[in-house]
Amino acid sequence: MSDDSRPSPPAARAAARTAAVIPAAGRGVRLGPGAPKALRALGGTPMLIHAVRAMAASRAVSLVVVVAPPDGAAEVKSLLDAHALPERTDFLVVPGGQSRQESVKLGLDALPPGHDIVLVHDAARPLVPVDTVDAVIEAVREGAPAVVPALPLADTVKQVEPARTPGEPEPVVATPERALLRAVQTPQGFDRATLVRAHETVTGEVTDDAGMVEQLGLTVVAVPGHEEAFKVTRPLDLVLAEAVLARRRLNDGF
Ligand code: CTP
Ligand code: MG
Repeated sequence: MSDDSRPSPPAARAAARTAAVIPAAGRGVRLGPGAPKALRALGGTPMLIHAVRAMAASRAVSLVVVVAPPDGAAEVKSLLDAHALPERTDFLVVPGGQSRQESVKLGLDALPPGHDIVLVHDAARPLVPVDTVDAVIEAVREGAPAVVPALPLADTVKQVEPARTPGEPEPVVATPERALLRAVQTPQGFDRATLVRAHETVTGEVTDDAGMVEQLGLTVVAVPGHEEAFKVTRPLDLVLAEAVLARRRLNDGF
């Protein structure tokens, strides 16, 4: 193992600079036909710009790496140039891959040295409040190799035997105790070396980055998430996102 791939000691992490990788390369199939999801407008501004601003709103974040749709890197660069973003934050745009995991890896590969804490944040979670971002960074600074923002579930969750044909009844095989479950959001925060090692060594499908760190046998911790950090996945989520923005505008007006 090279020195680079060793987790930095907590003392070093307390002063570490933070970079945010934003995977934005997905199509948004579940949202329906149209532009790539990250480029769709919310309150007149592309979702991706909201997500970049949400990361840049944290004073700890000095670099944002946007992972663009594979054929859309030039468009994303001009979008970032066209929207006002804080001066203290640098930006990089790289083309993404076929899966989210691949896109995150391409973003990590583009990270210059000097940022020892890395956040990974879905472009599809444009409205995460800065307090949530800061809480994740703080927990990494305090020594956790991986941190996830998480919320208790409202619905009871059932494990089923998935039907071969969608829509067919599915036998329920178990009901995990709801109080022990959390719905996990982003940004997820990492000691950089740990996340790089996870992406280099863990193979197979995972749906979040912290899951890869778990597979290394390391402890992942959860901090309180926020309901406004929800993922825009289906058309109804766009309605909710517009409503959250409208409420913010109203509150800012007073
Ligand atoms: N993502 C990515 N590269 C991919 C697939 C997804 O960067 N090849 C990103 C998306 O742009 C999104 C985040 O991963 O910001 C979370 O993924 P998801 O919400 O599933 O978005 P999509 O994959 O675009 O949506 P869908 O699964 O409905 O197509
Ligand atoms: Mg997807």
